[in-house]
Amino acid sequence: MSTEKEPTVEEKTKQLRALREKAKLGGGKRRTEAQHKKGKLTARERIELLLDPESFMELDQFVIHQCTEVGVAERKIPGDGVVTGYGTIDGRLVYVFSQDFTVFGGSLGEMFAKKVCKLMDLALKAGAPVIGLNDSGGARIQEGVASLAGYGDIFLRNVKASGVIPQISAIMGPCAGGAVYSPVLTDFIVMVDKTSHMFITGPQVVKTVVGQEVSFEELGGALVHSQTSGVTHFIAKNEEHCIQIIKQLLSYLPSNYLEDPPLLETGDDPNRTDESLAGIIPNDPDKPYDIKQIIYHVADNGEFFEVQPLWAKNIVVGFSRLNGRTVGIVGNQPSFYAGALDINSSVKGGRFVRFCDAFNIPIITFVDVPGFLPGIDQEHGGIIRHGSKLLYAYCEATVPKITLIVRKAYGGAYDVMGSKHSGGDINYAWPTAEIAVMGPQGAINIIFRKEIAEATDSKKKRTELVGEYRRKFANPYVAAQKGYIDEVIEPAETRPRLISALEMLTTKREARPPKKHANIPL
Ligand code: HXC
Repeated sequence: MSTEKEPTVEEKTKQLRALREKAKLGGGKRRTEAQHKKGKLTARERIELLLDPESFMELDQFVIHQCTEVGVAERKIPGDGVVTGYGTIDGRLVYVFSQDFTVFGGSLGEMFAKKVCKLMDLALKAGAPVIGLNDSGGARIQEGVASLAGYGDIFLRNVKASGVIPQISAIMGPCAGGAVYSPVLTDFIVMVDKTSHMFITGPQVVKTVVGQEVSFEELGGALVHSQTSGVTHFIAKNEEHCIQIIKQLLSYLPSNYLEDPPLLETGDDPNRTDESLAGIIPNDPDKPYDIKQIIYHVADNGEFFEVQPLWAKNIVVGFSRLNGRTVGIVGNQPSFYAGALDINSSVKGGRFVRFCDAFNIPIITFVDVPGFLPGIDQEHGGIIRHGSKLLYAYCEATVPKITLIVRKAYGGAYDVMGSKHSGGDINYAWPTAEIAVMGPQGAINIIFRKEIAEATDSKKKRTELVGEYRRKFANPYVAAQKGYIDEVIEPAETRPRLISALEMLTTKREARPPKKHANIPL
């Protein structure tokens, strides 16, 4: 018979606390200091910043890897390089995984992946967002194919969860190889400027394979992905800013596709009219202006949370509130390419419209579009295929769609931008609207080519014909006479009109024919 005394409950509890404290150390003091030196927080510090105080409930804190490779087998760190769990943001449930760079460089192995998958499965069952804080050297080399399998399991869950719960990825360190495909399958990416990178193949491989010299920052830094590739949706100044962006973004979103977005008391009068709206559009129809000025004047408290502000600037997308309700805003931006639609802006707008539709967010469209951008680059780049994505997204969307044409709505772009024909529920126009097949200059060059050529003063003739065309076609009344525009409204009354339409449409239900899934032109 053993004479050793069984530990008491108190002693076992004490042991548990000690184990927990050990797990919290991650890869140890030295690596934590190195992390801080790079201007980066640790996995746990990030979670603390993100969630409501004391709300984080950790899961799988004692998971360790099962790898028997020399150099790894003897180094088992509780948690295995990723902190997972759930908590609240502004009192709302969210699930979080935070990669711990101090443990094997945050690299992903079999057990690490299992933790993330378990979390995603829970989030999907409970119907709450998943936030991934990424800071990782990618697939854990020593675990070989088990790491690749782990990524694959996560990708599958990203896709299953797509359109069911919001998924948000923060990139707060390296993100390389196939590992970038999990973040990009999520709904939104926030990258921290200077300390985060995303690429499929890093600078070393680029140099070896194609002989190009490029730095980490130039190849896959936050600015490049914000301005050039359009991979990321937000660029954050630092990690605190990154967390703040995630919280702000979530404030606009429902927790899952069956819920409506949260209603917020904003204190802005829904009947507020605004005379200054009339002064935003220049009298000269060819002069640019900033469409965001109209959005600021109309939205609750002038707030507009812009998505992808630095990429494809000829279209503006983002979230606002109207009488406390979340709306997705899409607007052509006349100060870039005169607001013409091109490949990138169509992709940007299309993806945003589809996100809004998936999560019950009504779409408000401000139209000032001279058409699709002409050019060999655009045609050869596939503007037909890419432009159709925006058209497709509008036609597919069954959320309330309210459109306001403030100035130009020409050609195919008129149809695309939330027109009555693409399923617009309420279509307004300002008296400044010009709705026609094409702009006056282009139109008269085609239909009056002979008359202009034969005129004794062809310049005068052209001016006359442009004026005539503008009076006849370039106005909102032809469309209003046909019911394509439901009402021509005064600029000042835009906010109350939009809010009234939005509230009238809160019970909107629209079905599409049953199908397996649609086939957007990718
Ligand atoms: C195992 C890794 C690792 C990895 C880093 N470490 N990446 N361990 N597998 N993939 C470890 C390092 O050995 C080191 O361990 C610690 O993490 C920190 O790494 P450092 O190199 O010292 O840090 P730093 O100088 O900041 O450089 C970070 C880095 C670099 C840029 C991420 O480590 C790197 O290039 N790693 C490899 C990236 C990569 O090519 N991954 C595979 C991508 S392919 P110690 O013990 O010293 O602290 C991929 C496929 C996915 O991911 C497929 C999905 C389908």
